[in-house]
Amino acid sequence: MSTVGHTKRITPAAIETMKGTRLIVSLTAYTTPIARLLDPHCDLLLVGDSLGMVLYGMETTVGVTLDMMIAHGQAVVRGAKHACVIVDLPFGSYQESKEQAFRNAARVLKETGCDGVKLEGGEEMAETVAFLTSRGIPVFGHVGLMPQQVNTTGGYRSLGRSDKEADKIRRDAMAVAEAGAFAMVIEGTVEPLAREITAAVAIPTIGIGASAACDGQILVSDDMLGLFNDFKPRFVKHFAELAPLVSKAVEAYAEEVKARTFPAIEHTFQPKK
Ligand code: KIV
Repeated sequence: MSTVGHTKRITPAAIETMKGTRLIVSLTAYTTPIARLLDPHCDLLLVGDSLGMVLYGMETTVGVTLDMMIAHGQAVVRGAKHACVIVDLPFGSYQESKEQAFRNAARVLKETGCDGVKLEGGEEMAETVAFLTSRGIPVFGHVGLMPQQVNTTGGYRSLGRSDKEADKIRRDAMAVAEAGAFAMVIEGTVEPLAREITAAVAIPTIGIGASAACDGQILVSDDMLGLFNDFKPRFVKHFAELAPLVSKAVEAYAEEVKARTFPAIEHTFQPKK
């Protein structure tokens, strides 16, 4: 019998029931060792397509492929015993049709053993969300700032200040919730709107740059650990500063190699006496 999907991890259905009972803790994870460290403290681990920028040095998430997401999804599932693991569907793997979305989402579920997929989009993706959820694929929605649409929206900025923008995000959130998503990310959205949507929808809202009014929070783990310092948006808090620690450790290593003080005798194999 296949063990894919056989898990004691928190399920998407359990995440949904957390709304109104407690705040939901989530972070991105891309590798097994980091997933192991985050897992005991998180309700949900997202294998975000932000890995394109964070791990691969891409400028946007647009170039991320389904194969990349599957490889990192497998790695995170290996490291997660507790948290619900959700894998992002990358740009181009679901927008064409609901059938394409089902085919690729099913592949992600089968090949990684994760608990669900995330896709970006509101009203225009509602039919797809309903198609997937009614066929056994839990969907985590994503509204507000949608990084996969950066080429048409013209960049990364907070949204919802104008009536037109706020109306669109409101309609997107309602559409995704009504289509059957178990939860949704609200990204880069002004506080009053995030608060209003959180009160209006029946599913949890997970904020990133959307204020503490949401039902939970998510951050890119490399951002909050102070490892990814290419840029620091206002909504990111560094809970640690790991980048200087890494630099210091590598500097010390380089000095010891050059001085031939590493490896020392305790790091060296000797013949048996
Ligand atoms: O790709 C990602 O990491 C995300 C989160 C920032 C929500 O979508």
